[in-house]
Amino acid sequence: MIVARSMKDLPTRDTVSARVLDGVACAASLEEILLKDISELGLTPHLAVIIVGDDPASHIYVGAKIRACERLGIQSTHVTLQSSAKWEELVAEIERMNSDDSVHGILVQSPLPDHMDEEKLASLINPAKDVDGFHPQNLGRLIQGKTDGLVPCTPAGVMRMLEWAEIETRGKRAIVLGRSHNVGMPQSLLLAARGSDATVTIVHSQTQDTAGICQDADIIISAIGQPEIVRREWIKPGAVIVDVGINRIEDQSREKGWRLVGDVHPEVEHVASWLSPVPGGVGPMTVAMLMANTVEAARQQFQ
Ligand code: GUN
Repeated sequence: MIVARSMKDLPTRDTVSARVLDGVACAASLEEILLKDISELGLTPHLAVIIVGDDPASHIYVGAKIRACERLGIQSTHVTLQSSAKWEELVAEIERMNSDDSVHGILVQSPLPDHMDEEKLASLINPAKDVDGFHPQNLGRLIQGKTDGLVPCTPAGVMRMLEWAEIETRGKRAIVLGRSHNVGMPQSLLLAARGSDATVTIVHSQTQDTAGICQDADIIISAIGQPEIVRREWIKPGAVIVDVGINRIEDQSREKGWRLVGDVHPEVEHVASWLSPVPGGVGPMTVAMLMANTVEAARQQFQ
């Protein structure tokens, strides 16, 4: 890691601060398109959401998903299982939804309690109803370069946001920080796919010289879940930075005693050309892409 001796040594740009990659505005524009798509669909899409346990953050995220359904006229079913629920109960619920023709999309909110296996779960959901895009069949399509199906919502939302802001990815050096199956890996595939055409490097916990690698990047997508770890010194002036991290840090000045921060340090704003905020960046896009996947799943099942 490079250590700057003074403010003079830090990379900088002429402009004062990065442009905001506004996920709220981008999600609103997508919702407008979806409202029209739904009105032309000839049926009401139906999303079923299962939540296991009482993790407060998960309940907040599920609440946002249900409210988005309400705004768009998508029917939603919300099932809550206790954290002590048996694996078999969850499987039975999914099987019921798999065979219910009125349900077009199924999502099981993560994280699950420790005694449940998320990877196994992904294979149990009917791939046609897999609006999270985590089923091996849907992830496999991505490897084949097919980006038009049920694609994981967060990386799909990042791609949509880049397109919406008219940020060129072709031929650019893109770095994805993190190699999770739900964000980092599909994000890398989407960036490298034909049409997006970025040259992608995946940085992970065993990478040597993360800072040096990042300094060459035109685009950085950070999905590691470590508060403000991406530092100003890592950033090439004018780079585009997308912050997927949602981290709770203690803040006693707030009534609730905590606040949300991303993976990216706020100082990056002075070097980057674009930066997505937390909150208000990728989060709303994840929800909007879930709605888009639900509409797409309904369309495909209706045909
Ligand atoms: N928990 C946090 N983000 C997500 C998501 O995109 N899908 C699911 N199923 N759970 C999540």
